[in-house]
Amino acid sequence: MAPRLSFSVFAIALLLVGASVFAKQEQINSISFSYVGTTGPGHWGNLNPNYTTCSHGKWQSPVNIVRDKVVRNKKLKPLTRDYAAANATLVDNGFNIAIRFEGHVGVLVADGKNFTFKQMHWHSPSEHQIDGKRFPVEMHLVHQADDGSFAVVSALYRYGDPDPFISKIKSKMDELAKEEREGHEEAQIPLGVMKTKYLSRNTRKYYRYFGSLTTPPCTEKIMWNIVGKVKSVSKDQVKALKAPLVSSCKNNSRPVQPLNGRHIEVYHDDELRGN
Ligand SMILES: *[C@@H]1O[C@H](CO)[C@@H](O)[C@H](O)[C@H]1NC(C)=O
Ligand SMILES: *[C@@H]1O[C@H](CO)[C@@H](O)[C@H](O)[C@H]1NC(C)=O
Ligand SMILES: *[C@@H]1O[C@H](CO)[C@@H](O)[C@H](O)[C@H]1NC(C)=O
Ligand SMILES: *[C@@H]1O[C@H](CO)[C@@H](O)[C@H](O)[C@H]1NC(C)=O
Repeated sequence: MAPRLSFSVFAIALLLVGASVFAKQEQINSISFSYVGTTGPGHWGNLNPNYTTCSHGKWQSPVNIVRDKVVRNKKLKPLTRDYAAANATLVDNGFNIAIRFEGHVGVLVADGKNFTFKQMHWHSPSEHQIDGKRFPVEMHLVHQADDGSFAVVSALYRYGDPDPFISKIKSKMDELAKEEREGHEEAQIPLGVMKTKYLSRNTRKYYRYFGSLTTPPCTEKIMWNIVGKVKSVSKDQVKALKAPLVSSCKNNSRPVQPLNGRHIEVYHDDELRGN
């Protein structure tokens, strides 16, 4: 049980607590879940008593967004984001590539509440689908409010021009792929001061629903905001995002989960679009 127990602590640190706790958890990262076989998504709920929400939760993520069924909610407000520059570290957890920020990197204001930007990571292929379609990549920007609640801003990518943000860290990702993850440690590369303003563009349309973390422990009551505008990423960049990961996590996308009566809402800024 020891590695699993350690891992759950790590996973919670990664996804729930934020930057300050990461350093202390490095040495206990072990990959106890994966995306294939007996540790794959269908088994997550049985891998650790703390993961039972993965199999018994009713409001899980990701989901398929059927555009004909989304509900226009005129009360939704624009996603206001104020991102700045901060020291950052590129991290290979084994199951995804993430960037952690030190200090205050930015804030998301959603539903009148401030959520602090904590970390970001990528999944490939995408986890959320639109009309049953998967995209090559999905980026998750994880934010947490003072009351502990989480809000994720997600962006989907299609193949095309390179993504300017990933371009900035591409050489570091190639370095990361060469680093040996010693035993259960995660690999890290300092990025110096990263500007993050670019990440807060293009939120004139977004889909909103309440779901869960898409990795164990699959904690619920997460506010999801999937940006309507699809970005582009090059095939080389997608390869670079996968290269450092362990083979059972190269395709690190959880299958879509049932809505169980949930509605997905949409915010659309008509005035800015002029229609
Ligand atoms: C479940 O999570 C709690 C809180 O992080 C931790 O104290 C406990 O040891 C975990 N239990 C198992 C079996 O991993
Ligand atoms: C980033 O870290 C360096 C070295 O620790 C420090 O000198 C610098 O002030 C930091 N910059 C920001 C924006 O936090
Ligand atoms: C919430 O964030 C906004 C935008 O950065 C800021 O102006 C405001 O003071 C913050 N409010 C609180 C209560 O921290
Ligand atoms: C990931 O998925 C792609 C597309 O389905 C497949 O070709 C590839 O073999 C998978 N890679 C691994 C390591 O499972």
